[in-house]
Amino acid sequence: MAYQDTLTELPVQEFALGEDYALILGDSLQVLPQFPTDHFDMIFADPPYLLSNDGITCHAGKMVSVNKGEWDRSQGAEKDHQFVLEWLGACQRVLKPNGTIWVSGTHHIIYSVGYAMQQLGYKILNDIVWQKTNPPPNLSCRYFTHSTEIVLWAAKSAKSKHTFNYETMKEIAGGKQMKTVWRIPAAGKDEKQFGKHPTQKPLALLQRIILASTQRDDLILDPFVGSGTTIVAALREGRRCIGIDSESKYLEIADQRIRAQLGTPTLQTIES
Ligand SMILES: C[S@@+](CC[C@H](N)C(=O)[O-])C[C@H]1O[C@@H](n2cnc3c(N)ncnc32)[C@H](O)[C@@H]1O
Repeated sequence: MAYQDTLTELPVQEFALGEDYALILGDSLQVLPQFPTDHFDMIFADPPYLLSNDGITCHAGKMVSVNKGEWDRSQGAEKDHQFVLEWLGACQRVLKPNGTIWVSGTHHIIYSVGYAMQQLGYKILNDIVWQKTNPPPNLSCRYFTHSTEIVLWAAKSAKSKHTFNYETMKEIAGGKQMKTVWRIPAAGKDEKQFGKHPTQKPLALLQRIILASTQRDDLILDPFVGSGTTIVAALREGRRCIGIDSESKYLEIADQRIRAQLGTPTLQTIES
């Protein structure tokens, strides 16, 4: 397939390639410029929220560090916004003219993402509120319990004729127009059987996003793929997907999840 031919020419350290997907190990800021312009039908980005500030949070009823990894450290508002502008700009170039992008985030990052979208000329279509049905309690008792994330949905430009599978969404919503508040539980143990990613998204969220905004065989990109949720959801729904991540330990989890989804014990793994 054409997109795989493109991948074999990428200056990437390592990737796993299947018929309908690819995993790339690398920095998205360096990998994205290698793709042709107008290449992807849809992009889902779950970027670093830049919230690892040595604080505490609650996990499985225990007090734990909020730190996710060095990749999640803030460099200050100006540099953080510059990073968002860079990757969002790179994503916009590789998105097809009628393509759309979804970006998830909390207050740490989502206002910067929204502003950057406006600066770059994206057209914001909706701001989805993902309401977690099972949020952890707030241990400090000095704030409301954090129980939502925002997912911004935007078209490449004001001229885009974007895909919205209205009838499919209506069917999922029980015959009524689907609203912008989506009640979906956080990823459970059954989705973490091959290892834990600190910010793994639930498959149900990605499946809904994919069903809403793509057609069968469409090509999806996830520039921060982590444990591979977007690829697993894409394959379940008959779409193709390329995922990039800078941490090999997460791609190993992704690799196993994808293999389980496909029911295949081995992959063609290529190293450069
Ligand atoms: C919020 S997590 C994504 C989690 C993913 N949605 C999942 O369900 O597993 C963000 C990911 O971005 C990766 N990352 C951070 N900076 C990156 C960069 N510059 N290029 C590529 N990946 C990066 C991290 O390793 C992390 O896995």
